[in-house]
Amino acid sequence: MGFNLVNRSLLTLDELQPRGVSHLLEIAHELKRAKAAGTEQQHLRGKEIVLLFAKTSTRTRCAFEVAAFDQGAHVSFIGPHDSQLGEKESVKDTARVLGRMYDAIEYRGFEQSVVRELAAHSGVPVYNGLTNEYHPTQVLADFMTMQENCRKPLAEMKLAYVGDARFNTADSLLEGAAMMGLDFRIGAPRELWPPQVVQDKARAMAEQSGARLHLTASPQEAVEGADFIYTDVWVSMGEPATVWAERIPQLLPYQVNAALMHAAGNPNVKFMHCLPALHNRDTAVGERIFQQFGLDGVEVTEEVFESPASIVWDQAENRLHTIKALLVATLG
Ligand code: CP
Ligand code: NVA
Repeated sequence: MGFNLVNRSLLTLDELQPRGVSHLLEIAHELKRAKAAGTEQQHLRGKEIVLLFAKTSTRTRCAFEVAAFDQGAHVSFIGPHDSQLGEKESVKDTARVLGRMYDAIEYRGFEQSVVRELAAHSGVPVYNGLTNEYHPTQVLADFMTMQENCRKPLAEMKLAYVGDARFNTADSLLEGAAMMGLDFRIGAPRELWPPQVVQDKARAMAEQSGARLHLTASPQEAVEGADFIYTDVWVSMGEPATVWAERIPQLLPYQVNAALMHAAGNPNVKFMHCLPALHNRDTAVGERIFQQFGLDGVEVTEEVFESPASIVWDQAENRLHTIKALLVATLG
């Protein structure tokens, strides 16, 4: 029997401890197999979950909804402009109301302090569905995907993250890698490295886990020998569009293209991205960037994104199985 996570929140990965992460990954693999085999058992019948989104989402929202439906729970979706939160009602008051009606709260938004406050005052488990600082449910799906695509145990895998490393996805990857003992490299301009407090926490965890952490401004050095090369958008939700003009020249050397994939020196290296990705001109933002900066494909080229090395759809699907594991482990 694994680790007991009943009634626990997930605000940052480190509060799960390595055993909690391993436990959730085991449940996620089991749930994925059961769904495919048509043998999934429902553990959440009668549970009510509220999904509070102050930023937009495709994967996280759909993963929480389908996970809840598969397990017999109900959800209420509250979009960025659908509730009194922020304008007329405080986080603390909202938390106390939602805690009287729901068994759990998912929150996506801006400051990490909001999820902390929801957890402090609602009396029910709170799941961080992305804040500016962290994206813990993403990393559970990423680790599951890495386990499916590499024969080595997690602690022997080499993961390289290149691009904007000072935001949610990179910070949670650093935290997760440090906890689980990975060889993790960040290739980013020094100004875009994770905040010092996140680095310090990761270094302390790495001492326990044996993780090897390496931050460098050289993208080639970061990817050398990597099993996986991971990137995220260069301008995140909540940042003004004017930031593109400084980010593009700053991050162009870190674009994941065929040359960077080759620099890994590993013919089996895989490409990862939390998505959504700007890999061509098929989106409004992609087209604007092409018109303004002449760039067709931003953080990753179309060639790499659509190549057999790309495992981004596995990552997206595994959001469902890992979020379901989290719901079952904390509410089941
Ligand atoms: N990766 C991720 O969180 O995707 P969404 O923004 O679509 O939820
Ligand atoms: N860093 C990105 C992640 C999206 C899933 C953002 O915050 O927009």
